[in-house]
Amino acid sequence: MIINPVIKGVVARSAHPIGCREAVKQQITYCQSAPQIHDGPKRALILGASSGFGLASRISLTFGGSRTKTLGVSFERGPSDKGVGSAGWYNNIYFKQEAEKNGLKAVNLIGDAFSPKMREQVIRTIKEEFDGQVDLIIYSLASGVRPNLQTGEFWHSAIKPIGNAINGLTLNLEHEELTETSLSPASDQEVHDTIKVMGGEDWEEWITLLNNAGVLAEGCKTIAYSYIGPKSTYPIYHLGTLGQAKLDLHNKADLIHQKLQDIKGEAHVAVCKALVTKASVFIPGFSPYLLALFKVMKTMGLHEGCIEQAQRLFNSKLYTTSGEAVIDENRLIRLDDWELRDDVQRAVTELMANITPDNFKQLGDFDGYQEDFLKLNGFGFDSIDYGQDISMAFMESLKP
Ligand code: NAI
Ligand code: NA
Repeated sequence: MIINPVIKGVVARSAHPIGCREAVKQQITYCQSAPQIHDGPKRALILGASSGFGLASRISLTFGGSRTKTLGVSFERGPSDKGVGSAGWYNNIYFKQEAEKNGLKAVNLIGDAFSPKMREQVIRTIKEEFDGQVDLIIYSLASGVRPNLQTGEFWHSAIKPIGNAINGLTLNLEHEELTETSLSPASDQEVHDTIKVMGGEDWEEWITLLNNAGVLAEGCKTIAYSYIGPKSTYPIYHLGTLGQAKLDLHNKADLIHQKLQDIKGEAHVAVCKALVTKASVFIPGFSPYLLALFKVMKTMGLHEGCIEQAQRLFNSKLYTTSGEAVIDENRLIRLDDWELRDDVQRAVTELMANITPDNFKQLGDFDGYQEDFLKLNGFGFDSIDYGQDISMAFMESLKP
């Protein structure tokens, strides 16, 4: 069959396997030529390994200087009568192929990271295939739901402001339109549930469980990803439900950090740059900011994608010659340092004030945003022949 991009709203309903391989390969090539990671971890567990920041972290660790063996957990779909499967499914497969070609172990576990079954499977796999311990755990899950294991019900996140309603423009990728959205403030329940889904509770549970199982090596580090952003996005992000969840994540980092003292471990939060990922395109009212930010940072030669951020995290912030992570006064690692530069934000604010549904393609970096979104799903690579026939048998022969 010929595989074309299918987009519904802001969700990709198809993915190109060969294009996903190309996306993985390009990220590998970047890491091999970038400043290398010194004294990185030997073995890492990545929760949320198949796309966005988690995948970039995995690629950076394996190919960016430290030759890390990785265990990746993700929730992805393979090919079936419903479709070709998800991009993350193929990213896992091709990452593993490339790692193994380089003589490095890579194991993929597909399933629900919130489930007790997956936790047991991870512990068993570390014991059986990673000499019993890991040196780093990346927590990079992005999900809209989390099961409440006590009740069997689900918490759902709601991306909303707190206190006052806000109006904002949201990019619809399917129709290539910037449309006016109005967001009512979250209820207390919605705030609570979003913290449950995107806060730090599950991270803390994971680390406690792994520590109790004895599978964390002495000096083990763990890191989760956060976002703060500039004042212009505070109403929808930092002071909204997501911001509350991130605040909880930051607090849990301190708690986990304390708990890991017995093994001389460390827990950190890396505050990242705003980027186009499967998860971020869902944030209503956020797209004009991304369109302006990309335009400005590219013009200034400061733009980074997930892979550049991951490599910079490991080569200059987490693994340093002094052995100490580079943190701010709140113990946060700042990868949003370039995004938040005064000159960048001044230009972004000016540009955003002028972006309208009529001119966003010209004024903002619409092409860059769209290209990133397509590439997340294996589309838009010049080197790939998208007219080629891809058989179901071929796709089914690929195993994670
Ligand atoms: P993503 O959607 O690209 O990746 C999410 C990963 O989580 C995927 O590997 C997915 O398979 C996995 N996952 C989701 N639910 C799962 C489940 N139940 N069980 C197992 N795996 C599951 O998202 P992205 O953007 O990379 O987000 C990762 C983290 O980075 C999040 O905490 C996000 O808030 C943070 N971040 C993202 C920024 C952005 O602009 N995209 C900026 C700063 C932080
Ligand atoms: Na991720």
